[in-house]
Amino acid sequence: MLKYEDVKQVHLELSSHCNSSCPTCPRNVDGGIVSHELKPTSLSLEDVMKILPVDLLKQVSIMNMCGNYGDPIMCKDIIGVIRYIQKNNYLLELNIHTNGGIRDEEFWTRLGSLMATMPNSSVTFSIDGLADTNHLYRIGVEWDRLIKNVQAFINAGGTAIWDFLVFGHNEHQINDARRLADEMGFNTFLEGTPHSFNYNGKMRVVDRNGKFIRHIEPAKKLARPLHDITYNSIDFDTNINSVSEKYSSIRMAVLDKNHRSYDDQIKKFNDMDHVEVQECTAIRFSEIYIDSDGGIHPCCYLGHINKDILPMPELVYHKKWIDETVGLENINALNKPIKEIMESYFPTIKQGWNKTFAQGRNPMCVLKCGIQRPNGFIRTTEQIS
Ligand SMILES: C[S@@+](CC[C@H](N)C(=O)[O-])C[C@H]1O[C@@H](n2cnc3c(N)ncnc32)[C@H](O)[C@@H]1O
Ligand code: SF4
Ligand code: SF4
Repeated sequence: MLKYEDVKQVHLELSSHCNSSCPTCPRNVDGGIVSHELKPTSLSLEDVMKILPVDLLKQVSIMNMCGNYGDPIMCKDIIGVIRYIQKNNYLLELNIHTNGGIRDEEFWTRLGSLMATMPNSSVTFSIDGLADTNHLYRIGVEWDRLIKNVQAFINAGGTAIWDFLVFGHNEHQINDARRLADEMGFNTFLEGTPHSFNYNGKMRVVDRNGKFIRHIEPAKKLARPLHDITYNSIDFDTNINSVSEKYSSIRMAVLDKNHRSYDDQIKKFNDMDHVEVQECTAIRFSEIYIDSDGGIHPCCYLGHINKDILPMPELVYHKKWIDETVGLENINALNKPIKEIMESYFPTIKQGWNKTFAQGRNPMCVLKCGIQRPNGFIRTTEQIS
């Protein structure tokens, strides 16, 4: 598994707070309340300096400030954190992901000026439409404030990327958005295909009381075919040979989140024993994931330990698995150095790839990076590394 000396990329979740409540973001329930299981946190500058010492910062070439549960701009120390990074590795390829609706022009001018001194840095603004549509997915983001913020950042010398998730309600606006991006001085315009149309091929939006408001439809012209299926309608099939054709992920094929108890679903992990881990992204990109509590993980998938929500039994199980194998406090870089965590925790993940579930395999790797082979073999650890 990845060694400390070989880490080249860092995915850093500076905060799990957010001003928005996008309907399929794991931080909230269908765009309504923040999930009860999530206890939002942000890292301070002091935390970051402890977690990412100068020697590690100097060896890293790419840093992705994004995260699973929040928006990095919610971190009150973000300017200090970027100054710390700039001082020690100004050539770092730094990318910050944000909805852009947080803070004011003064902040964005400061951030733009600072990032202008880092030639390989950029901010990706997640803007899914125009004035009349962006808020339909980016619930709570005010258009006027967002546009002022982005313009202040660009005017101060920052490099901006527009990331446009294409839905049914905004697909007619792509060309206008491209034009606006040009006028404002964005560097790049990207079109993305959203996932998680989990309710009969649609997303659901509810209010803070859980009352249904509307559905969000996928775009007619999707960049990739849509395989997400309503959880309700999944019949578990132990012979999931055509899993990649039928389902968007093995997870969708294996789990039925509404109709089975946690214990029943956990038993299903036994049925994945013949599914092998195909490609470990953490190894491929030499990347580690740092969550906003200071937890260190091989990847963002395993970084989902903030939210033990029952409809996602693999997350509940994963957290329990860490606690029982290495202990949650022992994977936290506020308690011990990353090097030690990587030496004690990461090998246990890799060893699990060759085990059956009963022997102690963590199902997350299979659900996220697994592929079923027709003859049902599992590669050996030696072959994978
Ligand atoms: C949890 S967000 C954190 C960063 C920041 N708050 C943002 O939204 O850009 C991580 C990434 O997930 C993306 N995202 C949110 N909902 C998505 C969906 N349904 N399909 C694909 N990407 C999605 C966001 O646009 C962002 O790039
Ligand atoms: S802006 Fe990002 S973190 Fe915030 S709710 Fe949307 S996807 Fe989640
Ligand atoms: S889920 Fe497991 S196999 Fe996939 S990238 Fe993460 S550690 Fe590697």
